[in-house]
Amino acid sequence: MSTAPSVPHVPAAREPIKKIAYVKGVFVFLANYILLLLLVCLFVWLNSLRTGGQGFGTYVRENYTTLIYLMASVFMLCVIVFFYYFFEDKRVLGTPKRIWLIFILLETSVLVCYFFSYFFNIYSRPIAMMAMLSLMLIGRRDAIFLNVIFALLLFSVDRFSNFSLYNDYENALNSTPLLVFSSGMVGIFVGSKVKTRLRAFLTGFAICIPIVIMVVCLEYSAGGRIWQLLLFGIEAGIVSVVLFMAFLPVFEVLFNCITDYRLRELTDHDAPLMRELKERAPGTFNHSIVLAHLAEACAIAIDENTALARAAAYYHDVGKLRQPEYFTENQTGYNPHDELSPELSVDIIRSHAKDGYDLIRARHLPAILADVALQHHGTLPIKYFYAKALKMTDGEINIEDFSYAGPKPQTKIAAIIMIADASEAISRTLQSRAPESVDNAVREIIEERMDLDQFDECDITMRDLFAIRKAIVGCLTGVYHSRVQYPKLKLKRKKEEEDE
Ligand SMILES: [Fe+2]
Ligand SMILES: [Fe+2]
Repeated sequence: MSTAPSVPHVPAAREPIKKIAYVKGVFVFLANYILLLLLVCLFVWLNSLRTGGQGFGTYVRENYTTLIYLMASVFMLCVIVFFYYFFEDKRVLGTPKRIWLIFILLETSVLVCYFFSYFFNIYSRPIAMMAMLSLMLIGRRDAIFLNVIFALLLFSVDRFSNFSLYNDYENALNSTPLLVFSSGMVGIFVGSKVKTRLRAFLTGFAICIPIVIMVVCLEYSAGGRIWQLLLFGIEAGIVSVVLFMAFLPVFEVLFNCITDYRLRELTDHDAPLMRELKERAPGTFNHSIVLAHLAEACAIAIDENTALARAAAYYHDVGKLRQPEYFTENQTGYNPHDELSPELSVDIIRSHAKDGYDLIRARHLPAILADVALQHHGTLPIKYFYAKALKMTDGEINIEDFSYAGPKPQTKIAAIIMIADASEAISRTLQSRAPESVDNAVREIIEERMDLDQFDECDITMRDLFAIRKAIVGCLTGVYHSRVQYPKLKLKRKKEEEDE
């Protein structure tokens, strides 16, 4: 676990979602409603196998009123989930994959909890697993909401499939919503702060605190058995964390989600694309590392996801891998642009944004990294070749022919990369690295991009831009601080050694 939850993917450009996508979304909701009812049928059937006497059909016939209650309550919960996203984030309703993720999380958790109560005990269920998985895969706010839905869903399912499984635990059964909600909330609050595996393990003990309290309150009259139930409570907290760690990579891969774990793996210097960049475009690789340092500082300054900012910086220029020798940082003397027309040079330079996007998508890496690669130059002109073309011709030149194709940054992270990228490049050309000159250079970069409307499509504020400027200046003056001039002394060996 780590500090920042997953970041939902924002499309490359904010195109309105087509109505057909919403229709598909509604079908996914219906499919999952049916899937949940089938799960309950499975539980009832398993119960009938265990008790031997009563069959599935008989049970359903005898308990049809409870069945109607269950169907109605599960339907209501699905409707509540639908309206939550309708008011909070409509884009989710137009993204069937996201709806599948939400429901498969709920269904897997209900299934796992059922098996734990079937084979062990009602208190042994890993009830916080769903909350922690949602925290990492979807985000904290949605995790809190889904934790409430899960608590109510588990309660409804328990009530109907209460064959003989929970006969001795009527109190626990009635307290399911509170038990699930409280331990899930502990998982969300403690889990958000955890960075190491040891701390993740300790989160398990924090999760079991509300369970243990509930066991004591509900089962105080159980006599000697209470110790066994307390052990089940502790096991529930630890197993919640263990299963969370086991399921997380599966969901990451299945739904191409980004978590801090995945981002950390992607920014490892041995990650396939990073190794390629290091070997084939060492200049770009070094530029990306310095940029990552700046982007992280900016993300901290405006409270954005630092792991994502770092990964976006590492991957923003991977498109240069197609023709690395055409980019200054990878050249050692010979510049192939000297033999090309400005138009051809511009085509090669600006294609690196689209090439980066295609490469990241082709390697099945997170879509948000591809979007940042595509957007990090927005629709800015490539000034060097525009000026070269102006010199070579007397006629009118359309500046758009010498500009990047866009889109403009759609997220704060893309805006950070755009500003930090130019700041890192310009800092290499500055005569003086005094804070005032660096500050002036970064201010000019930001103002130029504002004049060219590059931040029109993202929700970055003036306060954010100020914080970003301060963070970049702080880093650049730190990275390129001046050193004391060492005296030029030629040291000689001691005379005795020379004599030998
Ligand atoms: Fe670039
Ligand atoms: Fe760059």
